[in-house]
Amino acid sequence: MDGEPIANALIDVWQPNSQGFYDIQDPSQPEGNFRGRFITDSSGSYTFETVVPSGYNVPASGPCGEVLRLLGRHTWRAAHIHFKVSANGYTPLTTQLYIEGDPHLDSDTTFAVRTAILKLQKHESPAGLDAQPRKPFYTTEFNFVLKPVTLTEHKAMAESYAYVKEPG
Ligand SMILES: [Fe+2]
Repeated sequence: MDGEPIANALIDVWQPNSQGFYDIQDPSQPEGNFRGRFITDSSGSYTFETVVPSGYNVPASGPCGEVLRLLGRHTWRAAHIHFKVSANGYTPLTTQLYIEGDPHLDSDTTFAVRTAILKLQKHESPAGLDAQPRKPFYTTEFNFVLKPVTLTEHKAMAESYAYVKEPG
């Protein structure tokens, strides 16, 4: 990979649980469940543990559902994890990574899936680990690439956040 590792980048992560529900949709989950913020280390690396999320149906009761019905499309989103990655001097990146093997990768109802697919490597529970019940776990790796911000972009971002004075 070209470029330099970015230390102290902020990685903001949110995802549904293994049943496809975000914390804000599911009163059984504590507030902030499956949400986290991480800072890359001096080598630009980050790690965290989570559950493999499930795909979910988008709401189908309103106009969005009507449009999908008229188009003959299903309501499934492929399983994914949301990321927002930012660092000083770089254009922030907001994206979603999809889980390899999800049955809706090729037909995500928002046409969102491209090539950002997490390949999961399965591991059996290591001998000696006392976790009960013993379950296999998965590891994966994904490298984010941030684009350095130009002076023109920097000025445009500054102007977009310009202070608006209250009238009167
Ligand atoms: Fe989502």
